[in-house]
Amino acid sequence: RKMSGLCIAIGLAMVSSSAVIADELRVRANALFSAVPTEAPEIEGNVLTPEKVELGKMLFFEPRLSSSHLISCNTCHNVGMGGHDYLPVSIGHGWQKGPRNAPTVFNAVFNAAQFWDGRAADLAEQAKGPVQAGVEMSSTPARVVATLNSMPEYIERFKASFPGEADPVTFDNMAVAIEAFEATLITPNARFDQYLGGADDALTSDEKEGLALFMDKGCAACHAGVNFGGQQYFPFGLVTRPGADILPPGDRGRVEVTNTASDEYVFRAAPLRNIELTAPYFHSGAVWDLEEAVAVMGTSQLGTELNDEQVQKITAFLRTLTGDIPEVVYPILPVSTATTPKPVD
Ligand code: HEM
Ligand code: HEM
Repeated sequence: RKMSGLCIAIGLAMVSSSAVIADELRVRANALFSAVPTEAPEIEGNVLTPEKVELGKMLFFEPRLSSSHLISCNTCHNVGMGGHDYLPVSIGHGWQKGPRNAPTVFNAVFNAAQFWDGRAADLAEQAKGPVQAGVEMSSTPARVVATLNSMPEYIERFKASFPGEADPVTFDNMAVAIEAFEATLITPNARFDQYLGGADDALTSDEKEGLALFMDKGCAACHAGVNFGGQQYFPFGLVTRPGADILPPGDRGRVEVTNTASDEYVFRAAPLRNIELTAPYFHSGAVWDLEEAVAVMGTSQLGTELNDEQVQKITAFLRTLTGDIPEVVYPILPVSTATTPKPVD
């Protein structure tokens, strides 16, 4: 009888100490990461009205923003497919290949700056790039404004979205509306976020070990915050430079933005939310397998050869970052009119 009492006491002590360890893991995680909010965040200088978000959605799906009338934002950032195109590098105007992999638009609103090299400050600045880029949509601001003005429904929708503006159909307002829509493309409620909020069972023990490794090995030094990255810049190959297949020498990264020699091969620490949906990986899109991408990070950024078990656990953890995908109802776009600029090659 005495013995069994002792056993119960030891048993209870063990349970409570493992509970303490489990809580410690959550406390550490909460200090480094935060959950994706369930509502679109506020954007300075861009109030999200339903009218503007709906217009932004139409423009996001609007292929007539491209000179060919074939390519919309959704071509390369397919919201039914993880917010990207599953290609190593995107294919744009005239079947041209761009230089880089398309990042997902999901949760992009949380990044401190846009693009692999951070060259656009925010989503509204960003959106003006692809419309004009020769390898993407190959249009011009004047052509876009003429296109939008040729369809009365767009004029009405710009008026409703930008009340009080004398001439609301502008290239800048196009970008502002797209930014408003993109702010709604967030993915809350990932299993990891449930865990952060207190749901112990949301992660398996392997996934929790993966989380611990992600913090202990140093991944979280670069991939933290709400988006697990997207905030700061680091040399890709901080410790060991990856091979030319993964880090093509022609793309020198942030040095092109800052003109500072130390920024050679510096890239933004990629956001890792929904990472299981966004293969292939890296700005080159050279790696299809998430396990391999994790192993590459170990050697290139940490100088650590992660063993198979560690790679698997970290990867299992990264798969818990997949959230609820926003439901996007495909917009019905206005019909072209006699004055709509014709498609050109
Ligand atoms: C990057 C949105 C059109 C391919 C991005 C990013 C956003 C975005 C928000 C940055 C994401 C991040 O840095 O995490 C849009 C919008 C478009 C559009 C709103 C329509 C106006 C396109 C098209 C293509 C494309 C048509 C393919 C032909 C890419 C690529 C990048 C990128 C390759 C990475 C470029 C780099 O880092 O240098 N886009 N996109 N995008 N997008 Fe788009
Ligand atoms: C990219 C995971 C450590 C900086 C990535 C990607 C993954 C990843 C999966 C590819 C994302 C994508 O293509 O969308 C990890 C893991 C780490 C780790 C599991 C720990 C083992 C680090 C550290 C740093 C860092 C310590 C900073 C010193 C970067 C950068 C990129 C990146 C700059 C973008 C590389 C590019 O230009 O393609 N990381 N990472 N990572 N990570 Fe890490």
